[in-house]
Amino acid sequence: MGKITRRALLLGGAGLGVSGGVMGLSWVRGSNRYEDLVKRTWQSVEPVGQAFPNSHERLVAYACMAANAHNTQPWKFSVFEDRIHIAPDFNRATPVVDPEHRHLFASLGCAVENLSVAAQASGFSAPVTFQDDGCTVHLIGDEKAASRSNPRFEAISNRQCVRANYDGRSLSDADLQGLREALDDEEVSAFLVTNRAEIDQLRDLILSANSVQLKSQAFRDELKAWIRFSGREAAETRDGLYAPASGNPAVPGWLGRRIFDLVVSADGENAKYAEQIASSAGLVVLAAHRDDPIGWMQAGQSCQRFALEATARGVRYAFLNQPIEVAEMLPELQAMLGTDLRPNLLMRFGYGPTLPRSLRRSAEDVITRSG
Ligand SMILES: Cc1cc2nc3c(=O)[nH]c(=O)nc-3n(C[C@H](O)[C@H](O)[C@H](O)COP(=O)(O)O)c2cc1C
Repeated sequence: MGKITRRALLLGGAGLGVSGGVMGLSWVRGSNRYEDLVKRTWQSVEPVGQAFPNSHERLVAYACMAANAHNTQPWKFSVFEDRIHIAPDFNRATPVVDPEHRHLFASLGCAVENLSVAAQASGFSAPVTFQDDGCTVHLIGDEKAASRSNPRFEAISNRQCVRANYDGRSLSDADLQGLREALDDEEVSAFLVTNRAEIDQLRDLILSANSVQLKSQAFRDELKAWIRFSGREAAETRDGLYAPASGNPAVPGWLGRRIFDLVVSADGENAKYAEQIASSAGLVVLAAHRDDPIGWMQAGQSCQRFALEATARGVRYAFLNQPIEVAEMLPELQAMLGTDLRPNLLMRFGYGPTLPRSLRRSAEDVITRSG
């Protein structure tokens, strides 16, 4: 078999989309099911008005719209009338890229921010508490809360990670200031980098770490296992990284896995990341003040607050966590930032397009019923 190039991969995707035959038809049916699930998953948000427990199920659905590592959705929700608790689901861990569960806990922090914002918009004061084994939103009736309009609430169903080239523009002063304010957190330090020379320095570290990861067979196998190459695959599990959400064409799974093995290389991916970073307005690194599950969740909460504020302002963002995930790169990252704190998350941001959406499991699938 000849070498499959990136261009062939693109053409292959387009060609298969119109093919007939038994396999072609079932593949198209899978795409329709994916489109239906996108509409159902990402309905625009409304304050939850129904009685318990329906109200709380809707809040859980909003929580699940949060960013989460590899879209494994590593969470379990316990719903009580006066609170909702989010616990880790270690069955959905990614042990190669995240052996200590730092990003798994950060994902819970992202979900708790959505939950708290949605509960506030629905008439609760919704303070968040963190425990070693998860986090809790307390639902306390607060008449004034519902009347406060909050663009971050509307942003919950529009937010997505956009792994595409942005348009190269700098952010307006107002948008940059809005993001700075969203990042203001007593528990988490934010390092906002908009100077091009500093962005380039960080880029080099990101690319080096990316090379380390893509040369590891264990890393590649784990990543590949979470990619959903077609609408059909995405719709079957309603989790994972839907290929078109990363700017790649949808292809049948068997073909996607072949192509992944043949085409995805450190050099190719680095060229893509370098372009994406050059097109971005800036980078931001978040580092929690404590280095334990509570700190990791706090970093996630701060990150989701940033994401919602960015989305409300029409600013796109995506993660570039490679130098955080490759432990030997951390000292260099810390030196560049001038901090002893251990960074938790690295993102880029800018103005740009949107991409196809990832899916989520239903609230019912992630609520643990007790008694
Ligand atoms: C803690 C955490 C780590 C993540 N790491 C990466 C990453 O290194 N690279 C990447 O492209 N996306 C990363 N993501 C983004 C997720 O893959 C993304 O949120 C998920 O696939 C769902 O897609 P959506 O956010 O567009 O809905 C991360 C998200 C979180 C919360």
